[in-house]
Amino acid sequence: MNPAAPSQISASAKLSAKAAQFTESVIREMTRLAMAHNAVNLSQGFPDFAAPEEIKAAARDAISRDINQYAITWGAKSLRNAIAEKFVRQHGIEIDPEREITVCCGSTEAMISAMMAIINPGDEVVVFEPFYENYGPDAILSGASPRFVRLQPPRNGSDEWTFDADELARAFGEKTKAIILNTPNNPTGKVFTRAEFETVRELCIRHNAFLITDEIYEHMLYDGARHISGGSLDGMRERTITINALSKTYSVTGWRVGWAIAPPEVTSAIRKVHDFLTVGAAAPLQEAGAVALRSPDAYYTQLASEYLQRRDRLLGILSSAGFRCFKPRGAYYIMTDISNFGFADDVGFARYLVKEIGVAAVPGSSFYHDPADGAQQLRFTFCKKESTLAAAEQRLAKLRARS
Ligand SMILES: Cc1ncc(COP(=O)(O)O)c(C=O)c1O
Repeated sequence: MNPAAPSQISASAKLSAKAAQFTESVIREMTRLAMAHNAVNLSQGFPDFAAPEEIKAAARDAISRDINQYAITWGAKSLRNAIAEKFVRQHGIEIDPEREITVCCGSTEAMISAMMAIINPGDEVVVFEPFYENYGPDAILSGASPRFVRLQPPRNGSDEWTFDADELARAFGEKTKAIILNTPNNPTGKVFTRAEFETVRELCIRHNAFLITDEIYEHMLYDGARHISGGSLDGMRERTITINALSKTYSVTGWRVGWAIAPPEVTSAIRKVHDFLTVGAAAPLQEAGAVALRSPDAYYTQLASEYLQRRDRLLGILSSAGFRCFKPRGAYYIMTDISNFGFADDVGFARYLVKEIGVAAVPGSSFYHDPADGAQQLRFTFCKKESTLAAAEQRLAKLRARS
């Protein structure tokens, strides 16, 4: 070592300008804060109840059978076959498991791999806002410029978040490479309707753009809402990238198994990116995934009905505590308006809730590119067991007393 050399390099001068453009995940930070303060965690969307026994047994079995080495980089054949079978059963669309599926480490990796596979410098990506917070960094890392289109909160007694079709049309242009559409939606609970999809379809075709759909909450639907898969629309199969995962449907967010379905040429590009990012998802968990995806219809019906009960339970708790709730029609979050509480901003209120009341939620600003737009919103999740919701109810009662 050269004794004359400075003992430390100047780190900030060496760091990536891309990484400097976004912060750590606020959602994951709230979970850590909840643990530090022993708060009831209604922030991050992971179930605190057990995953299905058959699926866990299938994972144990795969490990015992020594499926412990790398799977094929784009996914174990058994899992890709099961994904294709489920897709045709659900949406009537045949996909080729050999050429149109890439299994990744969760839908998170499927999304960034898909974006890196299609984006060139200067490309724009249309994103509905509020949006799942990962899409912001995904855009930066892949080099895309996001164009945000506002989802307006429900008004006049309606439960629907809506968008202005003209605003959406204005967001599309020569540089548009893709639109990201998450349905059922996090954080709003919106389930995009056929008519809305038609508007999106028409714009994608007119501007020769990809549709990237994040369908991770496809089985959590309430009040008669129906899930539409983007690729099922006329003329959209060849321009749609469908992202999904085991995480939410089978209550195994820690397994990190997801996938992207895309036409063969796009899949080839996604597979290359994926291979060099992570090589592959956990091999035994992919085998268990193949078992999970063959669950009987009754599994999904029961999942939705249990989530409906949890949704209604949390709606009751939050309303009694003074929150104005936007009733979700899908996914497992409730977006709320916090203006009744007189806090200047959502982050201050979220910190107060964790530290003084003992309940963690996600500040609304983390779902908007301009934090001011979410400053009077807070998101709660209901993917929790009854005892967790009951504990939150008890603690939030203190808040009601103050408001
Ligand atoms: C809309 C959406 N997409 C993707 C993810 C992440 O999924 P995964 O755990 O499969 O990476 C989440 C998790 O909360 C989500 O809400």
